[in-house]
Amino acid sequence: MPIKHTLNVDLGDRSYPIYIGNDLLGQADLITQHAAGKSALIVTNSTVAPLYLKAVQQALDARQIRHDRIILDDGEQFKTMASVETIIDLLLANRHDRRTTVIALGGGVIGDIAGFAASIYQRGVNFIQIPTTLLSQVDSSVGGKTGVNHPLGKNMVGAFYQPRCVVADTDSFTTLPARELSAGLAEVIKYGLIYDAEFFDWLERNIDSLKGGDTDLLAQAVLVSCQIKARVVEQDERESGLRAILNLGHTFGHAIETVMGYGNWLHGEAVAAGMVMAIDLSIRESWIDESVRERSISLLERAALPVAPPAGISADQFLEVMAIDKKTIDGNINLVLLRALGEACVTGGYDHDKLLQTLPG
Ligand code: NAD
Ligand code: GLY
Repeated sequence: MPIKHTLNVDLGDRSYPIYIGNDLLGQADLITQHAAGKSALIVTNSTVAPLYLKAVQQALDARQIRHDRIILDDGEQFKTMASVETIIDLLLANRHDRRTTVIALGGGVIGDIAGFAASIYQRGVNFIQIPTTLLSQVDSSVGGKTGVNHPLGKNMVGAFYQPRCVVADTDSFTTLPARELSAGLAEVIKYGLIYDAEFFDWLERNIDSLKGGDTDLLAQAVLVSCQIKARVVEQDERESGLRAILNLGHTFGHAIETVMGYGNWLHGEAVAAGMVMAIDLSIRESWIDESVRERSISLLERAALPVAPPAGISADQFLEVMAIDKKTIDGNINLVLLRALGEACVTGGYDHDKLLQTLPG
């Protein structure tokens, strides 16, 4: 059956495979070989359930794994402690023991919520990621960041908790709305900007086909993105340094998401506008030249992504939310900036006036 690529995330006793290909949900063993015991809980949402829940249930049935399912409301605004408590309540009510497996079936919102619930239920149970958006396949399902939002800040409550495997079925892109595909492309473009200039070139050549949904090219983009993410996470699993480069554009982007209200701007859209702001500041510092900005804006626009923050967010609002970012230490806002196309750094060593010039006037 068509597993196109298997990639290992090498983290010692927390290592796991990422399977990438089409028709993966139809392969019972791919999922069930990573179940711990004979019970499971599938966590999904009201949009994904009608599309893909049955296939996962059939895989578990085929190997006699008793399973429950929980269907959350769809949306970033439901990425809350209340959703986590709903999962914990069901696990307890239905007597799931420490050998149960929590399976996240959906985009990054579901993966983040379900993973966090798995990390705290009975101090941690087995967890499988089945990401169904481009963004979740290239980013959120890999690397073990789980958590929920707080009204004062995004992803402020959570845990590092690695899955047992990631099943990235590229067939799920066939039902994904175009706007969500574009949001995922923002994170794909991010990998080129922070780590791999050749991959950025490849994206420039292929962005129209990627946006058009070409499955083979999307599988290739998922593979390269996951390779880059895995290599970074393997060096710095808990983000004591290097891993923060994966957050290019995110400090600005989280401020956009928080001020606009969770769910109004998609995460990938906010990251796209945030990356242009980070590039802008890097140019003001003379670390990169104007050509990086021109190429990035052109690529993001071809992917149908925003390249500027929404009107109406003031510099003060940006600064207030950015001060709550997890990279902010002792009041200093650390930012991911570019030293070159394909090379990022995490630094508080930028000129504060230049940051102010980068923010809306
Ligand atoms: P999402 O989970 O909200 O999914 C986007 C939309 O697509 C939702 O409406 C969802 O129901 C729908 N959907 C999912 N799969 C579908 C499919 N195959 N067909 C049709 N519709 C489908 O958003 P996302 O972009 O996947 O993830 C964004 C979230 O991920 C944010 O909360 C962000 O903070 C988080 N994130 C986490 C990490 C991490 O490392 N943990 C990294 C990046 C982003
Ligand atoms: N999305 C950033 C990270 O996983 O570190």
